[in-house]
Amino acid sequence: MQTISDLTQLRQQIKTWKQQGDKIAFVPTMGNLHQGHISLVEEAKKHADRVVASIFVNPMQFGAGEDLDKYPRTLQADSEQLIAVGTDLLFTPSAQTMYPKGLEVQTYIEVPNVSDNYCGSSRPGHFRGVATIVNKLFNLVQPDVACFGEKDFQQLQVIRTMVADLAMPIEIIGVPTAREHNGLAKSSRNGYLSAEQKAQAGVIYQSLQQAAEKLKQQVSLDDVKTDIAVQISKQGLTIDYVEIAERNSMQDAVAGDKQLVILVAAFLGQTRLIDNWQVDLS
Ligand code: PAF
Repeated sequence: MQTISDLTQLRQQIKTWKQQGDKIAFVPTMGNLHQGHISLVEEAKKHADRVVASIFVNPMQFGAGEDLDKYPRTLQADSEQLIAVGTDLLFTPSAQTMYPKGLEVQTYIEVPNVSDNYCGSSRPGHFRGVATIVNKLFNLVQPDVACFGEKDFQQLQVIRTMVADLAMPIEIIGVPTAREHNGLAKSSRNGYLSAEQKAQAGVIYQSLQQAAEKLKQQVSLDDVKTDIAVQISKQGLTIDYVEIAERNSMQDAVAGDKQLVILVAAFLGQTRLIDNWQVDLS
């Protein structure tokens, strides 16, 4: 695996592969890799001749008071995992390389509607930061295919919308969430949790499963949301939001909507956890 931090070198390698006719798949990450990321690379390999991963802790998608400074940086261990799974190239730019003029004067991408609710309203500016960096990384890597985890479901819909709206010739593939034994969604932020907290956090998955069953039994959207919030709160987590969205528009679902996603964000101590479950009522 080559590791490249420089834009010119990256462009040169991509150009060589394109001239050879190689198909390129891309897995953007912020590092501190776990099985969820590895499954993205495994999926990427099925769709291309070359797999490029990136590690960049993107300051533009963190709000004031969020965990940008303490976000785990584990490049050596990440590289070993990426080599083991057969990644061809790891791109590790610095913040100076990606935002040479600073964040204040950086051109940005805003994806309206799908970005507005849920994590978009809890974390103002977050999806602007995500869309901007993903757009810039796409311009550099020029992938044919890019893989994103379904754990960040709203992010996935924001990227899909950006790619469609801007006619970018990239296939976006959503990859199912990797989970711990108790159902807790794997996340780089799980490293902030103690073993006891990880056990407690399993309630998010359990409540999502029960909620999906209730939706299929035609329990009302409001009652289902209330049940989830009660279960999660009983385990000592603090709810950020519990919502049910129509999953293409990412607007609050109304009775009769068929393609749903149940979305949960909750704090366990200082750690913010998110998860979701898709439900098809058609
Ligand atoms: O999901 C992530 O890790 C990040 O939001 C992403 C897509 C790499 C953009 O920084």
